[in-house]
Amino acid sequence: MPTPTRLGWIGTGRMGYAMAERLAKGGCDIAVWNRTAEKAQPLTQHGAKVARALPELARKDVVFCMVSTWDDVKEVMGKLLSASERPKMVVECSSISLEGSAELRQMLSRENVQYLAAPVSGNAKVIKAGKLTFVVSGPKSAYETARPFLDMMGAGSSYVGEGELARIAKICHNVHLGVVIQSLCEITVLAEKAGMPRHAFLDFLNKSVMGSMFTRYKTPALVNLDFHVTFTPKLLRKDLDLGLDAGREFEVPMPLTSLTRDLLQQMIGHGLTEEDFSTLLLMQAKASGIELEPENKEVGDGLSS
Ligand SMILES: NC(=O)c1ccc[n+]([C@@H]2O[C@H](COP(=O)([O-])OP(=O)(O)OC[C@H]3O[C@@H](n4cnc5c(N)ncnc54)[C@H](OP(=O)(O)O)[C@@H]3O)[C@@H](O)[C@H]2O)c1
Repeated sequence: MPTPTRLGWIGTGRMGYAMAERLAKGGCDIAVWNRTAEKAQPLTQHGAKVARALPELARKDVVFCMVSTWDDVKEVMGKLLSASERPKMVVECSSISLEGSAELRQMLSRENVQYLAAPVSGNAKVIKAGKLTFVVSGPKSAYETARPFLDMMGAGSSYVGEGELARIAKICHNVHLGVVIQSLCEITVLAEKAGMPRHAFLDFLNKSVMGSMFTRYKTPALVNLDFHVTFTPKLLRKDLDLGLDAGREFEVPMPLTSLTRDLLQQMIGHGLTEEDFSTLLLMQAKASGIELEPENKEVGDGLSS
């Protein structure tokens, strides 16, 4: 077990909680802080300590961060650096822009704190199933130090190089996620309108070469219309915007991303903001002139054993 490194954890939302839980259950020495303190409290049953104030984490060796946007990361990092001590390393896992990540690298390097950009792929259920993956950039030696902890949180990490490269990889990944969910919703509604049950169509798709961990774990939502949130439409919109910004910066046309972003915006405009991003299915059904009903079928998500 990779101890006695002292870990700090900022942000116990849907993702951060499940990630910190794996480290605590794995026996790590970990102190967690969340803006809404009560959300972090249940982690104490697995041996985590709850920090009363964020600057307390500055005395830890490695501090992980999993909040929402770059503005939020900047805010919490400012509080961390307001302490008199400094952690040796920060591992930032939120999905943020290249520019934000570069600014954070400068902030931390001024303070002699090593920094890894380490965004992730997978939702909270994926984390529980031990299948979360990381894409990491920054100094290779820092990566080697952090790697055992990344391994404890999931199915491994891919080191892609120095600087903010991991941010671009994650942005590309989430652009793909947005385009794929929209396509999946379109073909599922087409199949249904043509006369087949959604579960039958998705059973075929999932067993085919086009099936993936993603299409499988979204199947229960699409079949039974269980839109319990895993990832909010607004967070997905943020990632598509990051993709479009990067496309502009590197002069890469992204027509599918633009269209998907607009479809998502339409959905947000219709007030569908609090449920899962896969409510794109309902928008697609509406645009196709049909009303969907839950099929109430027991379908696997490919994650639960
Ligand atoms: N959900 C997914 O499937 C998924 C997958 C991959 C990556 N991501 C990325 O992971 C990050 C977290 O996503 P999530 O789904 O876990 O979001 P979430 O459930 O909304 O959690 C957000 C966390 O950030 C904290 N936070 C936000 N603004 C803050 C601020 N200004 N100061 C302090 N704390 C702040 C929240 O604290 P409170 O509890 O006090 O609100 C909460 O702990 C995002 O960047 C997202 O894009 C999500």
